Amino acid sequence: MNVHYKMIECTLQNSKLIQYLTKYAEIDADDYDKIFPWRHDCPQGGRIYVALSMPPGKTMEDVVKSNSKIVIYGWLTASVSTWKNKNKKKYDIAYVAFLATRQRTERIKGLGKTLMEMMETNMRDIGVDFIKLMPIESASSFYKMLGYTPCLTIGDKPAYLLCKTLWHHGPNDEYAQYLDNKQTEDDFIKKEKKEN
Ligand SMILES: CC(C)(COP(=O)(O)OP(=O)(O)OC[C@H]1O[C@@H](n2cnc3c(N)ncnc32)[C@H](O)[C@@H]1OP(=O)(O)O)[C@@H](O)C(=O)NCCC(=O)NCCS
Repeated sequence: MNVHYKMIECTLQNSKLIQYLTKYAEIDADDYDKIFPWRHDCPQGGRIYVALSMPPGKTMEDVVKSNSKIVIYGWLTASVSTWKNKNKKKYDIAYVAFLATRQRTERIKGLGKTLMEMMETNMRDIGVDFIKLMPIESASSFYKMLGYTPCLTIGDKPAYLLCKTLWHHGPNDEYAQYLDNKQTEDDFIKKEKKEN
């Protein structure tokens, strides 16, 4: 089977293509477990990394135009944001929002790892300093195996994000403080939602 790996930027221009991929991912949704990345918005400035099979000799554009059948094997969505420290040094930070590969029929071994490596190479190429992600418990050791380690935290609070350095580490204490505030903010939002 010929599997192609594609990166698609989340732009208005690509919305038709993203809709097309979403339609085919949804057809086989029963083959996925717990996480369905295509059901979430493609964030502005975000990127989708997708593994698929499609008719030979065709481009993605041809596929959409001719309404050809495709099969989606895995999907990763990531976004990039810029954070400035107090000296106005900018850090570009990628956030892996969702990753899932087929777990039932037509499962391809090594696909999750390949999608992650493709995303990392692409993020490194565009100058991203480091990557962060928030694993569900059952996927933590998968990311650790790929070199992700708990992001710095303040005090002995457990880190719920994992990080990997590409070009630069976060500016240690300052970024840890930012993550800590963000974690407190997120916990607060979650708590409020639960109560309402
Ligand atoms: C987690 C997930 C994306 C991994 O992708 P995958 O295609 O199954 O993984 P790969 O085949 O690339 O596996 C690469 C290696 O990681 C290991 N691995 C895969 N999933 C793992 C997991 N959940 N925990 C620990 N190790 C895992 C594999 O055994 C393999 O090891 P090997 O190289 O020694 O043989 C996939 O299992 C999945 O979609 N899970 C359900 C949704 C999910 O949990 N998404 C992540 C949310 S944060």
